Amino acid sequence: MEYTLDRFAQQVRDAIAATGQVPAASIELATPKPSIPADLAFPAFRAAKELGMPPPQLAQHLASQIAPAGLIGSVAAAGPFLNFAIDPVALTAAVLDEIDTRGALYGADDHGTGKTIVVDYSAPNIAKRMHVGHIRSTIIGQSIVNIMRANGYTVVGDNHLGDWGKQFGSIIAAVMRYGEPQAQDETALEQFEAIYTRYSAEMKAALEQGDTALDDEARAWSLRLEQGDPAARALWQRTIDLTMGINQKLYDRLGVQIDHAYGESFYEPMLDGVIAEALDTGVAYRDENGAVVVAEIEEKLPTFLLQRSDGGTLYHTRDVATIKFRVSEFNPDRIIYVVGAPQELHFRQLFALMRAMGYAVADRCVHIATGTVFDQHGQALSTRRGNMIYLEALLDEATSRARAVVDQASKDLTEAEKIAIAEQVGIGAVVYNDLYQDVRRNITLDWDRMLSLEGNSAPYIQYMHARCRSILRRAATEGLRADGGDSALLTHPSELALIKTLAKLPAAVREAAERYAPAVIAEWCYDTARAVSAFYRDCPVLKGDNLTLNRARLRLTAAAATALTSGLALLGIRAPAQM
Ligand code: ARG
Repeated sequence: MEYTLDRFAQQVRDAIAATGQVPAASIELATPKPSIPADLAFPAFRAAKELGMPPPQLAQHLASQIAPAGLIGSVAAAGPFLNFAIDPVALTAAVLDEIDTRGALYGADDHGTGKTIVVDYSAPNIAKRMHVGHIRSTIIGQSIVNIMRANGYTVVGDNHLGDWGKQFGSIIAAVMRYGEPQAQDETALEQFEAIYTRYSAEMKAALEQGDTALDDEARAWSLRLEQGDPAARALWQRTIDLTMGINQKLYDRLGVQIDHAYGESFYEPMLDGVIAEALDTGVAYRDENGAVVVAEIEEKLPTFLLQRSDGGTLYHTRDVATIKFRVSEFNPDRIIYVVGAPQELHFRQLFALMRAMGYAVADRCVHIATGTVFDQHGQALSTRRGNMIYLEALLDEATSRARAVVDQASKDLTEAEKIAIAEQVGIGAVVYNDLYQDVRRNITLDWDRMLSLEGNSAPYIQYMHARCRSILRRAATEGLRADGGDSALLTHPSELALIKTLAKLPAAVREAAERYAPAVIAEWCYDTARAVSAFYRDCPVLKGDNLTLNRARLRLTAAAATALTSGLALLGIRAPAQM
């Protein structure tokens, strides 16, 4: 897709090339500093060197040969730079047309067409509640899915459920030892979690005394589960149904939809093949106890196992099978794993192993190592410390706190409207907190900041969007139309600043995909919300006696609302029409 700013850059390139002084291939453009009144700059250093001329002289020379035309409003030399300013009238007309024509698709691109990307995200563990670590993966993963789709890629989302392996053996062993939870729904899940925690603690204490009985029992159950023991399988199925039923409600609240949930258990029948292949290709060997070991495939890479000496398989084994399956099923161009930073080594080992086994896709596997979540006091959340926050409780708290914000912002809504909006605002605040900065960084749950109507938060952005919608509603009742205005009248600095921000959404959508960085979109949303705020303050849409101007302003308001809705949607945040 070519958007207005792409055409502007192309016109600048063409104009420079047309002077015949600089070969098209060596035209590299840069973004001028904010203090410079220009939109694109051509630094003349390299070209000047090739011509044996001082850069300021070349810049001067080029400036005298290029006349404003099309989107180029002015050209000026400033030292070694040739600065180009965009023509505001042409820009405004083009951007408003683009937004009108493309509507919700404004900003979307097609350069990913024909390529498939698998995104591995959420991946909670069965028989446990989702905690803030899984919520990070869920929220970030869904935003990356949205962003990749907006760039034209075919995206396959896969929820790699933790429903297998030794930890599952511990859950079954715990049930056998302490009895099966009889409660239903959330309470049952908490009980499963409690007996698992108890079992693990007792097992750990026993191991420290050199007593391996509980450890052996957990391993034995995981083996029996793998081999299809009916009692183990029945229990396993119950916990899957229980956990997924609960998780689905949370996904619905978050607007998350994951295409597949194969889960670790799905790969069980393929694991013998994986082990045989690793042994055949010589990347792994069987040690004297019968364990299958991967050692020294890459420098400084710690050794790991594909099979324990008792025959049991591991997380790694299943991840190898997963890649093989994804390659044959989806033929992906890339596989993106959105998983917490503590699993960095796991993925390094996995990708190195795949590379050693000759899978080209290994070089196109990316682990997005998400940062940790801290509470208001700067403490990492952890089950052991007892300050863990579970997803459901988090969303409930966000919604009830958002209710206070909604009550303060909007006095004239019905109770039902307030409930619905508080849910969108509260969840928006949680989602935005996960996305507004580099996802590798740690985040803090600071409710005041997350829900602030003045700062860099979802509610602030949603509020500015709702203001636009409220102007549109009032215009409709007053009979003011958005067509028939003259966009050339939009010359106030606050109008131009808003238009320039709107023009940047397409570039943000592309950059967010290149860097797997939802924060680029978040930043665009925040910039746009601030620009809307200044426009709202300086440029009345419904007052004054210049109807042509009012109509143009109304059209700009509608464009801002459309683009903000799309930007927020890429993050997975809803944009209520009133607040
Ligand atoms: N279930 C794992 C956990 O909670 C995350 C799985 C991530 N995906 C993968 N392919 N290993 O830690």
